[in-house]
Amino acid sequence: MTDDELLAAADAIATRAYAPYSRFDVGCAVLCRDGRVIEGVNVENASYPLGVCAERATFSRAIVEGYRPGDFVVAAITASPCGGCRQWLAEMGVERVLFRNGGRVVRMTTDELLPEQFEAEQLPS
Ligand code: THU
Repeated sequence: MTDDELLAAADAIATRAYAPYSRFDVGCAVLCRDGRVIEGVNVENASYPLGVCAERATFSRAIVEGYRPGDFVVAAITASPCGGCRQWLAEMGVERVLFRNGGRVVRMTTDELLPEQFEAEQLPS
């Protein structure tokens, strides 16, 4: 699965977004270490803050399927990931992220997306 194919999968799944409020459809496709691709979309709600981003829907689905942080190689997203989703991408230990942003395709590591990450080790024990 090439990066282009993964981004094409994100583009295709975005048509299933439930985004009647923003009308901004987002798709995400994640390549797992075992070769499987897990997809997701944003799911909005009339109570706006309750909506879920495509990335979070995708990784929640992957976790339910039995995958764990570290099982993910590449995430392709049809939009630039929001701040909260950058934290999710870091938590999931994705190696690389590619996303569309204003007509460009941007490639970054999670460390570039979210430098100096907060980690649970920083919490008092
Ligand atoms: N959205 C995502 O799905 N992922 C992001 O990282 C950015 C924003 C969604 C949330 C909302 O449904 C719509 O895009 C407009 O903000």
